[in-house]
Amino acid sequence: SFKPLVFSGIQPTGNLHLGNYLGAIKRWLDLQDSHECLYCIVDMHALTVNPDPVELMQFTREVTAAFLASGIDPKKSIVFNQSRVRQHAELAWVFNCVARMGWLNRMTQFKDKAGKDRENASAGLFVYPNLMAADILLYRATHVPVGDDQKQHLELTRDVAQKFNNDYSDRIASLGIGVDMQVGDEQVSGFFPLTEPMISGPAMRIMSLRDGTKKMSKSDPSDLSRINLVDDADTIAKKIRKAKTDPEALPSDVEGLAGRPEADNLVGIYAALSGTDKETVIRDFGGRQFSDFKPALADLAVARLSPITEEMRRISGDQAYVDSVLKDGGERASVLAEETMRHVRDIIGF
Ligand code: ADP
Ligand code: NA
Repeated sequence: SFKPLVFSGIQPTGNLHLGNYLGAIKRWLDLQDSHECLYCIVDMHALTVNPDPVELMQFTREVTAAFLASGIDPKKSIVFNQSRVRQHAELAWVFNCVARMGWLNRMTQFKDKAGKDRENASAGLFVYPNLMAADILLYRATHVPVGDDQKQHLELTRDVAQKFNNDYSDRIASLGIGVDMQVGDEQVSGFFPLTEPMISGPAMRIMSLRDGTKKMSKSDPSDLSRINLVDDADTIAKKIRKAKTDPEALPSDVEGLAGRPEADNLVGIYAALSGTDKETVIRDFGGRQFSDFKPALADLAVARLSPITEEMRRISGDQAYVDSVLKDGGERASVLAEETMRHVRDIIGF
């Protein structure tokens, strides 16, 4: 079987926020000891929206600093930026030829990100899920810890792996490089694993502080909608104070959060930051007004985030160190990537 390997990434597009931290980075920490982990700054994904080159470099270093400040250990995990490892682009091209137009047409993130002017979106934005499949399968990663917003892309990754395994099954068998795996009730052999999402806990999806029906996002034009990892204590407190809520007090049980997206979101954030669950938060705060709960949440957020913010500043000041981490990570990732690509070239007849 495949050895447990984790891949996950974040785009260097600035405004790294609480959703990225709780939905991704914080959950990566625990995996470092039990799995081989690759944590990637996916600058090639950022290119799909044509960023300014100087900003792209700056944000790549900023996200790297955020990883390290949060406790990602570059000795345990491989930390690198995607564009350093050319095999990502190479495998993405192969997958452009494996994935079907119909699959990509169903992706909701493309529709969201392209907006009304679809004719003017980059072709890269459209095939983005194929590059994401390449990121994951280049390392034959078995597990991907992502927020629940990425579920659809991960299903596409599995579809790509399965179609590749099927299309080339004879060739994979004759080269003797298939790996046995369980698919449903069936025992099959394939080259790429069917990667599992690791989506769990209260931080599945952190919503905007201004609109409980939209996810907290880097690209939301309202800065009040998100808590940025670089926000200072006063800014965090202000954003939580101004967070949209309904006029009711907190319910006395978690079921009472149903149909109250803003209350549910704030309780979920509290649970994720304190490492508990919504039940525990409601046990402590059920029946209380938001005017009580919000300051407690603000204090907790500041206590958890300010050490990270400070450490991020310190690490960002040492550009040579940040660059050396990326260079070393890129070299280690390249070795693994080339191992896979050598086989892929053999399989497809290059
Ligand atoms: P964004 O969607 O803000 O541009 P990315 O696409 O770079 O962020 O996502 C990076 C990681 O952060 C992914 O694993 C994604 O699932 C997670 N993530 C992003 N936004 C949220 C959110 N609001 N709640 C939980 N996880 C999130
Ligand atoms: Na995302």
